[in-house]
Amino acid sequence: MRALITGITGQDGSYLTEFLLSKGYEVFGVVRRASTESFERIDHIKDKITLLQADLLDQLSLISVVEESKPDEIYNLAAQSFVPTSWTQPVLTGEFNALGVTKVLEAIRLVNRKIKFYQASSSEMFGKVRETPQTEATPLYPRSPYGVAKVYGHWITINYRESYDIFATSGILFNHESPRRGLEFVTRKITNGVARIKLGLDDNLALGNLDAKRDWGYAGDYVKAMWLMLQQDKPDDFVISTGETHSVKEFVEEAFSIADLDWKKYVTKDPRFMRPAEVDFLVGDSSKAKKILGWEPEYDFKGLVKLMVEADIKLLGEKR
Ligand code: NAP
Ligand code: GDD
Repeated sequence: MRALITGITGQDGSYLTEFLLSKGYEVFGVVRRASTESFERIDHIKDKITLLQADLLDQLSLISVVEESKPDEIYNLAAQSFVPTSWTQPVLTGEFNALGVTKVLEAIRLVNRKIKFYQASSSEMFGKVRETPQTEATPLYPRSPYGVAKVYGHWITINYRESYDIFATSGILFNHESPRRGLEFVTRKITNGVARIKLGLDDNLALGNLDAKRDWGYAGDYVKAMWLMLQQDKPDDFVISTGETHSVKEFVEEAFSIADLDWKKYVTKDPRFMRPAEVDFLVGDSSKAKKILGWEPEYDFKGLVKLMVEADIKLLGEKR
């Protein structure tokens, strides 16, 4: 089997690549040209995969990489994925996260309609939630330009499924984290902050809204669900979540306690990290995925926080 992954240099791309390699896949990854290469997350597997240059902004480059790699499956993970940036760069976010999906789907339509397609949709689409817990049938109410663009990506995926009979699936994934999470996302910001404080490199961690609640899972568990979605007889949409919700404050408490630190001595609130419109509360119901895909997460909240805090303490310790 051959797979093409957009966003291979990202958190999910790196875990999915490891997973597909373990299943015997030949893996091709889309990377964009940059003046300096930073393939940190896939450095350890770079010699086992083929990297091809393309950009979600460039239709012809996407057609070329699909022609060259001849994939059985395409995983569209590339995106501008940081929600706050979607307010400062709303047009670019729309180009990447909305129209970019159409460009990948167009490449499939033109090159080979038998290619199976996975779209990285998001629980951010539920935004100001209309019901709890959120399922595949919950109405969408995005609260950021990022969320709005992801709604487009979700619906264009369904539309190409219905218009052209393409095997196009949409995975509505709730927040998933890992030691490879970008440093600006709240979980990694906290675990990196804890490690820095523990090692005496810092004495403060400035955060925004501590009351927001998220359904946090482990990225390594979630990429398996992506693959399972493409192994089914028919394309569909699936919510992937743990079913547990915790506040940012609970994440802080847990992370600091793992390092034997009192969080109240170090955490301050900074209005710079508040958002113009917030998603206050998310919790997913992934019964459909459990029943049809047989998917279950292995990590729970405490296991995830522990994994991330320990990894960051080790990483910073090694760098010193
Ligand atoms: P990430 O770590 O930010 O990775 C994003 C990837 O997209 C990077 O490889 C990046 O490449 C690539 N990319 C960005 N713009 C591109 C463009 N114009 N052309 C080609 N590649 C481009 O994100 P992630 O956490 O792995 O998330 C993967 C996907 O799942 C994203 O679509 C995200 O929106 C979605 N999602 C994530 C979560 C979550 O909790 N992690 C939940 C739901 C949905 P560079 O290395 O060149 O920047
Ligand atoms: N980033 C960040 N930094 N968030 C903070 C901070 C801070 O200092 N303080 C509080 N928060 C709150 C945010 O306001 C938000 O409510 C919550 O922490 C989570 O923020 P992020 O970790 O940035 O993630 P997100 O939920 O906005 O988006 C992530 O999950 C989506 C799925 O629901 C991203 O991975 C998206 O790409 C993904 O689609």
